[in-house]
Amino acid sequence: MAGNSFGDFFRVTTFGESHGVAIGGVIDGCPAGLPLDVAAVQAALDRRRPGQSELTTQRKESDRVEFLSGLFEGVTTGTPIAFLLRNEDARSQDYEAMKAAYRPSHADFTYDVRFGRRDPRGGGRASARETAARVVAGAVADQILSRAGIAVSAYVERVGDVAWEAEPAFVPRAEVDAYAVRCPDGPTAERMNARIAEVARAGDSIGGALVVVAQGVPAGWGAPVFDKLQARIAAALWSLPAVKFMEIGSGIAGTYATGSAHNDAFIPSPSGGIATATNRSGGIQGGISNGMPIVVRLGFKPTATIQHAQATVSPDGVPTELAARGRHDPCVLPRAVPIAESMLSLVLADAWLAPPARLDQLHP
Ligand SMILES: Cc1cc2nc3c(=O)[nH]c(=O)nc-3n(C[C@H](O)[C@H](O)[C@H](O)COP(=O)(O)O)c2cc1C
Repeated sequence: MAGNSFGDFFRVTTFGESHGVAIGGVIDGCPAGLPLDVAAVQAALDRRRPGQSELTTQRKESDRVEFLSGLFEGVTTGTPIAFLLRNEDARSQDYEAMKAAYRPSHADFTYDVRFGRRDPRGGGRASARETAARVVAGAVADQILSRAGIAVSAYVERVGDVAWEAEPAFVPRAEVDAYAVRCPDGPTAERMNARIAEVARAGDSIGGALVVVAQGVPAGWGAPVFDKLQARIAAALWSLPAVKFMEIGSGIAGTYATGSAHNDAFIPSPSGGIATATNRSGGIQGGISNGMPIVVRLGFKPTATIQHAQATVSPDGVPTELAARGRHDPCVLPRAVPIAESMLSLVLADAWLAPPARLDQLHP
């Protein structure tokens, strides 16, 4: 069924199941003339790959990207860019039990109801493996956005109740990646590591939140009603597996404030133009970027597949118990960082490539 594509002008379609032959995607709408840095795309994938540290699943997915079309002599031709990631290290036998019993809080039951059949190996299309294709597309989008001086970066703000109590801000990816848990504050990162190790030892899992920020987005991107920039960002980020909340700017806290405490005062920007003294709007007003950083907070639930025995039912409704085997992330947050960045980059590339709304910006 449909629903595997995102974007109007920089349009990405992903395909493939976790333990099938390959996963991949097609990017339609990438402008011609971009010398694609394939090594940078591969580096982005390496940031998402499992097994980077003891905090993530030890599944081995080498995730080598192969580009099949849309490039000539390393430069985009303006035609669809197709790419593949072949699947390796598929231990489908680990998932035998999951054919006989629905994993609580996973997608097994709902897929069966919707489709009447599914590929249970590794979670099939509901596996977070699908997000590797989004990271390829996001890395291509990043190379377009960097031409406009736009950078997107995320970090882990909270694991369970262990939080970095800092005002959300842009932190360069290299500073975030200095810590395996991807929280750029050393002491908090250590406490997060300990918390994840503790739940992993107990065969359990834990959730948390990340902050993703786009800096350098000019004022004037977006649309006023159904395609508000925040609506597109929500569609992109809420489409990630295991997401449980999203906030822009002041988010939920802002809804407790008064207008006088909450409004962002306009000021002349030190770099020319107009800025705001605070950024409670999170860089978007009326569905259109205002030139301030776009600031989003995104919350993920604890990984559904845990080693504890859990009560569930078989596909024919008979009560049973399930204790998962297989290699699962005890906390998805560290690996969610590059994936969330990719989705925000896709929204921004799409917004940039949208036709101008002003006569004076139309080319003859
Ligand atoms: C980076 C990442 C890794 C994940 N790894 C696992 C995993 O190892 N095991 C698991 O059960 N769920 C994992 N998930 C979450 C499931 O894919 C997700 O919960 C499932 O598809 C059901 O969708 P829902 O939680 O959005 O309802 C992961 C999610 C992300 C973002």
